[in-house]
Amino acid sequence: MGFRARHLLGIESLAPDEIVTLLDLAETYVDLNRRPDKHGTALVGLTQINMFFEASTRTQASFELAGKRLGADVMNMGVAQSSVKKGETLIDTAMTLNAMHPDLLVVRHPNSGAVALLAQKVTCAVLNAGDGRHEHPTQALLDALTIRRAKGRLHRLTVAICGDIAHSRVARSNLLLLHKMESRVRLVGPATLMPPGIADLGVEVCEDMREGLRDADVVMMLRLQKERMDGGFIPSEREYYHRYGLDAEKLSYAKPDAIVMHPGPMNRGVEIDGLLADDINRSVIQEQVEMGVAVRMAAMDLLARNLRAARAPETVLV
Ligand code: NCD
Repeated sequence: MGFRARHLLGIESLAPDEIVTLLDLAETYVDLNRRPDKHGTALVGLTQINMFFEASTRTQASFELAGKRLGADVMNMGVAQSSVKKGETLIDTAMTLNAMHPDLLVVRHPNSGAVALLAQKVTCAVLNAGDGRHEHPTQALLDALTIRRAKGRLHRLTVAICGDIAHSRVARSNLLLLHKMESRVRLVGPATLMPPGIADLGVEVCEDMREGLRDADVVMMLRLQKERMDGGFIPSEREYYHRYGLDAEKLSYAKPDAIVMHPGPMNRGVEIDGLLADDINRSVIQEQVEMGVAVRMAAMDLLARNLRAARAPETVLV
């Protein structure tokens, strides 16, 4: 099996063959999820705990459904409102949970690196559901599955990622994945929303939206992540929409069959025109949500196989 990871902490540590293995398995779960009986058995007997230290709708629902469809006992810890922060308390929380013998721990945390820290303290498999502005690996994997299904491949595509790149873990994980799969990434947005030193990563950076979208196969829009901004990064939302909001006119610079993506939650009229977001001929936003469940089923299935193999008593050869 081409998947060796013990945890899913980021795209950075995955090899291209591990990504392909996961996406291929996810395809089988897309089929399962479309059947009237959606039950698999890959996680039967295992306990999955979801700990979301930050608000979430689709990611949390998707991980919960994925675990339940594969037969795990799933528990959601309501920590979003708590004041727990990285450091002693996070480690204490991890140790407390570890004592309950979970097998899969799904964690979202506002601090970059917090999930990796927690993974060092527990004996189960840890999945990063988004840590600060660092990584959101299952989002990049579900985006990759959506792109592969729409375009038939992941290599030699031009993908424009547009908007608030600086605060986005989605942009970072997608950039890493698309590079590994040999696609070309263009980052589009105002200079104030570009992370410093980004050009060193070997990506094209465009301040002009029309130029950035030219001949793109995929247009990926991002939300302005105001909760991670500590001041004014744009003159006004109206001005932002005028320059960077995706509408039919700006999209006309991309390839005629370019697809439109958005990880959600969307701010209609800020980064994307509402009618375009709903246009099923261009937008694959709902398909992204569907792929999210299948990708999380595949990720937990593969990690559970590795966990079981690591725990199995060694075979004695006589
Ligand atoms: C993203 C996130 O939380 O990073 N949302 C998601 O998981 N679908 C993007 C965002 O919050 O804008």
